[in-house]
Formats: sequence, C-alpha cells, structure tokens
Amino acid sequence: MTDTSLNIVILAAGKGSRMKSQKPKVLHELAGRPLISWLIESAMQLNPEKIIVVTAPDMDDVREVVKPHSSVIQHKAQGTGDAVKAALPALEGHKGDVLILLGDAPLLAHDTMQDLIDARHLDNAGLSVLGVELDDPYGYGRLVPDKHGKLARIVEQKDCTEEEEELNVINTGAFCVDGARLKSWLDQLDCNNAQGEYYFTDLPAIAAAEKVKTEICISYDEDEVAGINSRAQLAHLESVVQHALRQRAMDNGATLLSPESVYFSWDTELGQDVVVEPNVFFGPKVKVANNVRIKAFSHLEDCQIAEGADIGPYARLRPGADIGEGARIGNFVEVKKTRVGKGSKINHLSYAGDGEIGDGVNIGAGTIFCNYDGYDKHTTIIGDGAFIGSNTTIVAPAKIGANALIAAGSVVTKEAPNDALYVTRMKPMIKEGWVTSFQAKKTKK
Ligand code: UD1
Ligand code: CA
Repeated sequence: MTDTSLNIVILAAGKGSRMKSQKPKVLHELAGRPLISWLIESAMQLNPEKIIVVTAPDMDDVREVVKPHSSVIQHKAQGTGDAVKAALPALEGHKGDVLILLGDAPLLAHDTMQDLIDARHLDNAGLSVLGVELDDPYGYGRLVPDKHGKLARIVEQKDCTEEEEELNVINTGAFCVDGARLKSWLDQLDCNNAQGEYYFTDLPAIAAAEKVKTEICISYDEDEVAGINSRAQLAHLESVVQHALRQRAMDNGATLLSPESVYFSWDTELGQDVVVEPNVFFGPKVKVANNVRIKAFSHLEDCQIAEGADIGPYARLRPGADIGEGARIGNFVEVKKTRVGKGSKINHLSYAGDGEIGDGVNIGAGTIFCNYDGYDKHTTIIGDGAFIGSNTTIVAPAKIGANALIAAGSVVTKEAPNDALYVTRMKPMIKEGWVTSFQAKKTKK
C-alpha cells in the first residue's frame, strides 16, 4: 500500500543577495504579508503532517514568522540540495511524500501542489518536478528529457551547454519526492558544478541512474510559479496579487471607481455596496462594513469602519481607529486609537488620538487632541451629543461631558461637565481708528 502521508519542506536559507537587502528575502512582502506566509497558507491546505522551514543561523525573524511551524538551520548556504539535507533529521522515519518548495516562489497554489503530488503517484515514480514553459528561460534550471520524453536530468543555467540553453521547459523548484528514498539520493550529491554547490536539481539524474521513474508535472501559469530574486520581480508579483485582490473586492460586492489605483492588503475586508474612490491605500487589518464610502486619497491601516460611514477625501485612519455607524471623517483628519461614536462628525483638519468619542458628537474644524506630553499618551473622553467648536485644543487627559459645548478656540484643560458651556478666550479689545493713527505716526518718521 502506498504511504500518502505528507511532509513539506520549504527552503528559505539562501542569502537572496540579488535583492540587495538587509532583510531575509522571504520576509519581503506582497500585499503586506511576508512571502513565506503566502506559501505556508497554501501548503496548509494540503493538511501535511509537518511543514519544516529551512533557515540560516541568523534568521530568528524568519523562524518567528513561520511559527507554529517548525524550522531547521542550514549552517552554511551550500545549495538547495544541502538545504534539504538540513531537514532530514526532522523527516526521520517518514516514508510518505516529501514536498519541497522554494520560499521565494510565494504564489504556488495548493491545487498545483496537489497535482505535483498526484503526478508522483500516477506511475509510482520516485519523484516529480513542477515545470513550466517560458519564452525566456534564462536564469532557470532546464528540464532535459531523455529519448522517451521522460526527465533525464536538470541542468542549471550556469552549467548549460549552448544546446541546453535552447530548452525552454524550466524547473520551478517544486518537487515531490518519495520519503523512503530521499536520504540515499541526497547522500549521492556532490558539488562539481559551476557554482560549487550541492544542487537539489541533481536528484532526477541520480534517480534515473537507479532506474527509478521520474515525472514532470506542467503548470500553465507563469505568475503562479514565478520565483522572486530581485526587486523588479517582487514588484511584478505585487501587481499580480493586487489585481487578484481588486477582483475579490468587486466579486464580494464593492464598487471600485478606479480599481487600478486602489492598493489592498491581503486581509482587507470590504462589505457589500462599499464604494472606494480612486487612490485609496489599505494597509493590513482594515475591516469595512456595508454601505461605507471611502473617498479619494485616503490612507487606512489596522482600523474598522461601521455601516454607512463616510470617510475622506484625504482621511488618515491609523491603528485603532474605530469609526461608528454613519459617522463622518472628512478631509485632512487623522484618527488614531480612537472610537468615534454613531453619527459623530469630524469633518475637517483635525487630529483625534487616544480618544473615546460618544454618539452624535460634532467636532469642529482644526480640533486637536493633545494626547502626548513627551513621555506618555493620555486619553480624551467626549460624551454623547457634545459640540466642540473649531480650533479647540484638548489637553489630555481630558473629559468633556454629554451635550457640553466647547466654544471655538478654547484650550480644554479642565473637565467640562454635562450640558456646560466651556469657554477659554480673551475678552476682545477693540480700539477704533487705531490703525490709521499708527500708520500716520510711522510715515511721519
Ligand atoms: C533554483 C533552482 C533552479 C530553478 C529556480 C526556480 C537549484 C540548484 N536551482 O535556482 O533550477 O529553476 O530555483 O526559481 O535548486 N536556498 C537555501 N539554501 C541554499 C540555497 C538556496 O535554503 O543553500 C533556498 C533559497 O532561500 C531560496 C531557494 O532555496 O528560497 C532557491 O534558491 P535560489 O538561490 O534562489 O535558487 P535559484 O538560483 O533561483
Ligand atoms: Ca530563486
């Protein structure tokens, strides 16, 4: 009986030097989520026994991101074959399928992974490799067929003869290998090649020498199997992901007036009949309920917006902004860690940070919550129905009661009781004709 248990190994220990980055390549992001997390999400849908991520010694951050999945350390980056070797102790005793994936090819779909596994079982092959045909195969390992059209071996770009360079079915880097044979094949790898590395891609030739069958599984989606080696390739896959996220938003019933200009994060949630105007940015963790309009040039991250609210244009919702039903946040308004109650309005040029604003509150133009004293953040609480006049400065910690009215231009430093009028303002001083006599004096001189 065939053993169909599955373990997955993801290779992520490479330096990624072509990215020219201090950060490990697999932690670069698409739509606000690390490359490796995209791949792990798809891999999880196959219900593997284990996912083992191969990391370099200095990649604590990668090991943290992939938790609760296990990671192993490849002490020196000596090639993809050596990387898989580092996972062997974690695979001890496993005789089922081992799916090997590259951490820098983040968009591989789970059904393609399944096709690759199925390909190995089709004819009881020892391994299967996922290939794709490219117009420009430069840089990739080429799949070299034998005279029966079966896979004879894989040759890396730097080791290609001129003839081999013409082959255009390439190795995507994803393999499914018989777990019972993996170790003995890895033990046969050497590093007699142009890069002096242990290539995992030498396995098909080793299998062929043992007369074990190998299979090629073909993908027809270049973007799905694309690897990221450079910033330009990262940008290309970002555009692929953004296209899909826009499509998803529209499929779920949101109107995007100019889809191409809206940037989504992987986890953006939009309700039905949400309208998004052009040039809106959604950072991670944004949830928008039904019937919300988000006007042009707004920037949102880690915030939630309840039904029927109206946001922007030019609004900035920062982490912890919690906008209530039917509330309005207008132009050049910044909201951070603040609950804005039902039907409340902050329509122009204001900052609300660390606040709790009740229902039906009106906050006038140019109101500032002074939440920071240089050391600590303090809270501003405003009761239902309060009216805050324009250009009010609220020095937190502050409390303004329900229905209180703060006169325009006030500086609030004391508690304003419910229903109170609160004014801090100099009495006007008016001297009639003062300017004329002042000017006359000056011109005489
Ligand atoms: C690799 C394949 C190539 C294939 C291409 C597809 C080999 C030898 N070559 O080339 O046939 O066409 O992917 O994109 O396998 N890694 C380690 N440890 C190492 C080296 C690499 O963990 O010592 C990891 C990297 O982090 C990366 C992955 O393996 O996630 C691929 O390594 P990379 O150097 O990008 O291989 P390519 O040159 O792209
Ligand atoms: Ca690569």
